[in-house]
Amino acid sequence: MAPRKPIQDVIQAISAKDASAADLYHALPPEARRKVLDAFDARGLRSLTGLIKAAKKKRFAAANKRFLEIASGTADPCGSGEPTPARTASENERSRVTSPLEGATQAGVQNFNSSHGEREGEAPAALLVEGATQAPVISTPVYLIDETLIEENMRILQYVKDRTGCKIFHALKAYAVFATFPVMSRYLDGTCASGLNEARLGREEFKKEVHTFGAAYREDEIDRILRYSDSIIFNSFHQLETYGRRARKQGVEIGLRVNPGHAEVETEMYNPCAPRSRLGIVHDAFKDEFPGYGDMVDGLHFHAMCEQNSDVLERILVFFERLYGPCIRGLKWVNFGGGHHITRDDYDIERLVGLVNSFKERYGVQVYLEPGEASILNAGVLIASVLDIVKNEAEIAIIDASAEAHMPDVLLMPYRPNIMKSGEPNDKQYTYRIAGPTCLAGDIVGDYSFDQPLKRGDRLVFTDMALYSIVKNTTFNGINLPDIAVVRDGGTVEPVKRFGYKDYRDRQS
Ligand SMILES: Cc1ncc(COP(=O)(O)O)c(C=O)c1O
Repeated sequence: MAPRKPIQDVIQAISAKDASAADLYHALPPEARRKVLDAFDARGLRSLTGLIKAAKKKRFAAANKRFLEIASGTADPCGSGEPTPARTASENERSRVTSPLEGATQAGVQNFNSSHGEREGEAPAALLVEGATQAPVISTPVYLIDETLIEENMRILQYVKDRTGCKIFHALKAYAVFATFPVMSRYLDGTCASGLNEARLGREEFKKEVHTFGAAYREDEIDRILRYSDSIIFNSFHQLETYGRRARKQGVEIGLRVNPGHAEVETEMYNPCAPRSRLGIVHDAFKDEFPGYGDMVDGLHFHAMCEQNSDVLERILVFFERLYGPCIRGLKWVNFGGGHHITRDDYDIERLVGLVNSFKERYGVQVYLEPGEASILNAGVLIASVLDIVKNEAEIAIIDASAEAHMPDVLLMPYRPNIMKSGEPNDKQYTYRIAGPTCLAGDIVGDYSFDQPLKRGDRLVFTDMALYSIVKNTTFNGINLPDIAVVRDGGTVEPVKRFGYKDYRDRQS
């Protein structure tokens, strides 16, 4: 139990709108945070929300600079914050050839040495620093994830939990780099899984609750899924009929995914409520069949959002409650799914808090949220190097990362990712088409402009690239998957995974 003094200090800092209030609040244990919240009325709580969001924004701005420094080799390898001189592109190019594990710290050596593949025998990480004054340069392509930024996101999610008592599960489908699970599991209640492998990863690596939804389960997997899951969500009454009793027997709670009949996702590919969607039982079927199964069901689940704010949730809830509200009383929980962009700067946390609290009050149930993106939003980048520059009407920079293989949503959504220090075509003096190294004609990231002409060996930093990328990437054309590295507390870079020939070969047969 925290002594009264720290609690009073936090209350005072919040009242004075002191910027330190957020850190003081997060440092308190749960019961003390509860006491702080109890000390404020709605206006005071809004003020605390503002302070917490402002503190997070400031930290992100500072840490974003670090991505660029690591990419260019100007970061202090020990994370002391002292920048070292920038490398030239040719130095980068040279170092890539001679020292492919640059950027590794001692902490990462074991992981890299234990990874398999043709590149396994390359320079040990301990040899990476090329002299006392030169910072090591990370090799590319690499997904670089800043754990301290994940923690900033976690604090926001924890604050939502504090204010509402809801449970928040991380959706593994968005991001599953378990090297960062220890920091995430300190804040979240567990994971949500899409099937057997994610359920197992959640249980074994995140080590907290696991809630599984699959559009349809396989007979040869269901027993193992149940073993790893705390709740299982069925997508039809047939699946409930087939597997529900087994779940009951194993003490696994049962949910039904329903279609709330309203979504505001414009891209059909990402709209779970699009016409003829298979995702969620539609109300017509639900109203006829639910009465026969009501006593087998612990909760309802809907997922109808994609990268959206809480005003969208508010409108979805109106539809959801109109259709399913009469069946909620007596259930244990309602899962509001994912797609809540809670950690985005403009996200309306107060509205979310109000919605969850009033829902709980009206129905007397526990509320679950299972965002994926929100946990990792803006916390990771993909760093790539320019391999060559060719000309065909436009200047085209071919990089060592692929839109098709390493940033699949760029082509699927489609969207134009941000590259640090770049502009829209012709905004800056030098415009290039940025394209991948595969044979796919459409392996194009987009058109960008830069203040300086691009040179072979230059580094490009694609922002917000840890989401729906590592979980979806491929070895198309046999190209290597990007490394995965984590910036730990204090700024040290720990390479956690390197892929090689064996990873490619093992997937072919
Ligand atoms: C059932 C379900 N839950 C949670 C999520 C996570 O959504 P997001 O990463 O957009 O928050 C998804 C994403 O597709 C989903 O289908």
